[in-house]
Amino acid sequence: TAFQAIKFGGEGIRLYDPSYQNTAVARSKICEIDGDKGILRYRGYPIEELAEKSNFLEVSYLLIYGELPSRKQYEVWSSQVMHHTMIHTRVQELMRSFNYDAHPMGTFVSTVAAMSTFHPEANPSLVGSEIFKKNIAVRNKQILRLMGKVPTIAAACYRNRIGRPYNPPPAEGSYTESFLHMMDHLNEPNYKPHPKLAKALDILFILHADHELNCSTAAMRHIGSSLVDPFNAVAGAASALYGPLHGGANEAVLRMLEEIAKVENVASFIEQVKQRKRKLMGFGHRVYKNYDPRAKIIRRVAFEVFEICGREPLIEVAIELERIALQDEYFVSKKLYPNVDFYSGLIYKAMGFPTDFFPVLFAIPRVAGWLAHWVESLEDPDAKIWRPRQVYVGEPKRGYVPLDARS
Ligand code: ACO
Repeated sequence: TAFQAIKFGGEGIRLYDPSYQNTAVARSKICEIDGDKGILRYRGYPIEELAEKSNFLEVSYLLIYGELPSRKQYEVWSSQVMHHTMIHTRVQELMRSFNYDAHPMGTFVSTVAAMSTFHPEANPSLVGSEIFKKNIAVRNKQILRLMGKVPTIAAACYRNRIGRPYNPPPAEGSYTESFLHMMDHLNEPNYKPHPKLAKALDILFILHADHELNCSTAAMRHIGSSLVDPFNAVAGAASALYGPLHGGANEAVLRMLEEIAKVENVASFIEQVKQRKRKLMGFGHRVYKNYDPRAKIIRRVAFEVFEICGREPLIEVAIELERIALQDEYFVSKKLYPNVDFYSGLIYKAMGFPTDFFPVLFAIPRVAGWLAHWVESLEDPDAKIWRPRQVYVGEPKRGYVPLDARS
């Protein structure tokens, strides 16, 4: 509603659009959302079909390179990604230097940024800022490094947090099996990830892989537009994801459910939301004004996971919150529906992940989307460094008053 055209002195008219609510800043072929109909497609493929038939590494290839891979391309891609899963011992040392009780997302962001110091060919100040536009081999190498090392860094964040040694990536297994193996968060002897849980996590990774110009992907494009290396750009994007209004919402949802605790407390919590004392975390979306299609799939996956791990009791609170909210005029009139974060935390909790690790579980797959947007923006002939304008509303010109002369 604050959107307006404003005269800019001698520079003509500019649009004042706080928080980019009405501004399209890029042309993109990666992800299509119809927020009114609740439709999400990656490169034209419906998210429901990808979640059912594909796997995360194949979807990552699709997002980054534009087409589903042939069998040969898939084999090369997946073996190259898995080949890049090891992390340098100094990276492990760096991670150990963080406080044991540091939030894993803080450790994750800092470590991904530090990757730039290990891969100088990606450093724009050493090799020239146009490198990624011109040298596709160098660009692809950094993509493989990020895709491969991010789950290892994520697992090491967790191991560091609980004071246990780092588990190196296993020689075999899918992307999510390898990640679960490195986590070993159930601390079982001879732990082997349950294939159905690895598959459930893979589906969650597909659903979280991209969502056009959300806050963190816009940050990726914004930071990347300066032609900095992709490690620093991904770290910046991950910082944006960390916030509770974005990827940090999955953690905030679980804390909210824990606070509500019982079905009989739901109605009074909803009243607090309507009085604007609280927010119903995991509800609402800038683009979806209908049920988030990812939330529909995640709700189903939650029950599949409960069959293996046991029914998470807080699911009853979540179902009751949804039931009341979907009938209540406050939520109906504002078109507030469950988003991707509403049920995902319950799956992570049932699988045994600690609550503060949830945003990291969002960040791992979103790296694929960030990289897809990074590549697309590098190849976009219209792209320049992002530099929005402001509407200055401060003091007009005034004279400096020396310190001692000020009242
Ligand atoms: N609980 C209660 N009221 C809400 C909620 C909510 N979760 N979300 C929006 N509203 C209300 C707002 O108060 C506002 O009411 P008003 O017009 O009377 O002032 C109206 O709905 C519109 O909301 P905005 O905040 O203006 O919508 P915006 O597009 O800026 O924000 C956002 C979207 C940030 C997702 C918001 O819905 C929210 O804060 N949700 C909770 C956090 C959350 O779940 N985030 C995850 C989003 S999905 C993701 O990032 C992966």
